Amino acid sequence: MRSLIDITDFTTAELDELISVALDIIARPDEYANKCRGKKLATLFFEPSTRTRLSFEAAMYELGGNVIGFSEASSSSAAKGESVADTAKIISQYADIIAMRHPKEGAPYVAAKNATIPVINAGDGGHCHPTQTLADLLTIVREKGRLNNLTVGMCGDLKYGRTVHSLIAALARYENINVVLISPDELRIPDYVKDDIIVKNKMSYSETASLEEAIPSLDVLYMTRIQRERFADKDEYERLKDSYVLTPEKLTTAKEDMCILHPLPRVNEISVRVDEDKRASYFRQALNGKYMRMALILKLLGEANTPKEQREGEGLVYDEIKCENPRCITSTEQELTHIFRKDGNGEMRCIYCEALKK
Ligand code: CP
Repeated sequence: MRSLIDITDFTTAELDELISVALDIIARPDEYANKCRGKKLATLFFEPSTRTRLSFEAAMYELGGNVIGFSEASSSSAAKGESVADTAKIISQYADIIAMRHPKEGAPYVAAKNATIPVINAGDGGHCHPTQTLADLLTIVREKGRLNNLTVGMCGDLKYGRTVHSLIAALARYENINVVLISPDELRIPDYVKDDIIVKNKMSYSETASLEEAIPSLDVLYMTRIQRERFADKDEYERLKDSYVLTPEKLTTAKEDMCILHPLPRVNEISVRVDEDKRASYFRQALNGKYMRMALILKLLGEANTPKEQREGEGLVYDEIKCENPRCITSTEQELTHIFRKDGNGEMRCIYCEALKK
């Protein structure tokens, strides 16, 4: 059974194939109108969403299929204490494919291990968001015409920003990508992304706290929201929330053909005055998400018998010691076996949320 939990579950050729299918869907939508006739998508959203859930649902309807699901944990039996594992087993009997968003890191992975149908990670806590990355890649292709030879600035909450983590993992596959990481000290990129992806793949990168300094060199600027819901310390959120605000004035030093992306929702990190700028690509990016999710549903439903590339492989340690990340799915699903893998630095990381083993 094939699922999409992490963007690295797909090869570069598969990412390129999804982009090609999405471009074909855009060009010939009628050809795809009945491809999922008789199929059901279950959208299991334990956390709020506008774009991801509704674009998944629009995608399935435009493929001729149907949708079941819930949009908040409180309206599912999770509110009565049902586990993610049990939920996945049950939904497998009602639907053909699952898209799951969950606040706990690793929850979609647990679902995929227990489901008998494909599971798509629609965002797990501060961990990753691979279908947002699919939207980002198609947008870069449509706006810039290429996925190589790019300087990409990523600005804002790089610590909890799951969209950034997944996008870096995808861009690591392409030639001559230079990543400029723009964040306050408190929200720098986590070590597991820097060591396991950026350094391991020999990506060119730099880190700065200054958007103004970085902007002139960028081909793509990926703005992100400082996410109130990820902060345990609300005072820290208040202190950091306005770290970056992109305005037309700040864009005067940017390249004429720089592409401005944002996974959305925005709060105030991009002034609405930027929306009229031709470089503002974030609303087109949200539409591209629907096309890529259509391509993804087709791929996963068409590959029901292909073995899933697993994160579990060599070097795993099954342990009685708990993962200490309070945001990890193992913090609420106590019966899960605690499994760790060795990272690029030889340190052990939880396979669900990738936190360091203490
Ligand atoms: N980009 C994104 O994930 O948006 P939603 O939270 O609205 O789904």
